[in-house]
Amino acid sequence: MSILVTGGAGFIGSNFVLDWLKHHDEPVINLDKLTYAGNLENLASLKNDSRHIFVQGDIADQRQIDRLLEQYQPRALINFAAESHVDRSIHGPRDFIQTNIMGTFTLLDSARGYWSRLDGPRRQEFRFLHVSTDEVYGSLEPGEPAFSETHRYEPNSPYSASKAASDHLVRAWYHTYGLPVLTTNCSNNYGPYHFPEKLIPLLIVNALAGRPLPVYGDGRQVRDWLYVTDHCSAIRRVLEAGIPGEVYNVGGWNEKTNLEVVHNVCNLLDELCPRADEGSYIQQITHVADRPGHDRRYAIDARKLERELGWTPAETFETGIRKTILWYLDNPQWVERVQSGAYRDWVSQNYEGRV
Ligand code: NAD
Ligand code: TYD
Repeated sequence: MSILVTGGAGFIGSNFVLDWLKHHDEPVINLDKLTYAGNLENLASLKNDSRHIFVQGDIADQRQIDRLLEQYQPRALINFAAESHVDRSIHGPRDFIQTNIMGTFTLLDSARGYWSRLDGPRRQEFRFLHVSTDEVYGSLEPGEPAFSETHRYEPNSPYSASKAASDHLVRAWYHTYGLPVLTTNCSNNYGPYHFPEKLIPLLIVNALAGRPLPVYGDGRQVRDWLYVTDHCSAIRRVLEAGIPGEVYNVGGWNEKTNLEVVHNVCNLLDELCPRADEGSYIQQITHVADRPGHDRRYAIDARKLERELGWTPAETFETGIRKTILWYLDNPQWVERVQSGAYRDWVSQNYEGRV
């Protein structure tokens, strides 16, 4: 028995692979294209672990997917692979359409062929789990109830539109072909191995390097934050007990404005790694031009997952953010190495001229 994971060298995927092998002995086949966001260093602790089989490849390459499914005969496919950064989708949407839509289509089509050839019990057991986002539901007004699984789809960015399209394809493969799919829509994750283009790791690495902490617009946008291993435990639970064709929202009940997050990170850094000049990291906060089409508020209603599958998050925002900051302080080499030339090019593309 094995599972096939795609995008397992990215932030959530690598946390999932590490977490899976902590809880199971079942091997993981990890297919990842190793784009700028994929980093095998995240999986360095598995170097001599025969339960982890890494394959470099593209989810839109049907021949490679077909070959992997035939070779390893996995009992499940978990799709993390995606272009995942909203700001990059604004600068260059094409890769998002290709990977998130065409890639998911290719995986579904290959999985359907493979699944239809399985015999009785293995066919019954097979699952295709698609990892998606709360951003497909659009933006909430203050005071509106959190997103439930039946909230209408209203994506606003090229990223969320491409994820919404992939969710619709997954749904269609269940209704039309009977492929046993599961979809999870999760809120903003944070934790170890998070590439510093997203808000929380960007704040940590910029603060420590003495650089400005860029807050888009007024900073009063709201996100719901979930510690990444809580997302991993939710996916494990949905894979184990989720009903095919169902959608499960995953969230941490931690709605925070961006300014609250920035202040939280600065206060913890002041405590754990004080500035040499005894000033506060808060002095580095800089308001910059807003993101075009910036969603104002996301909030997730995760009661279905709690009620039907008994999942609850283990971390609060306070415990999770402390663990995260400690991880970044303990791993300066990882932090140093991910800030390559390509990373610096992205930073100048996104932030120069934004003030
Ligand atoms: P990430 O950008 O850190 O990692 C994506 C991984 O996919 C990388 O390793 C990359 O190399 C790989 N990849 C990209 N294109 C590929 C392709 N064509 N073929 C194979 N591999 C490819 O993303 P993440 O933050 O780990 O997100 C993982 C998944 O979870 C995504 O589907 C994302 O939409 C979803 N999600 C993310 C969040 C979040 O807060 N980060 C929240 C909810 C859902
Ligand atoms: P991000 O981590 O990119 O996730 P998402 O856009 O998927 O929610 O951004 C989180 C929030 O932080 C979002 O409202 C945009 C904001 N933000 C900033 O204010 N400054 C930044 O430099 C970045 C990257 C994000």
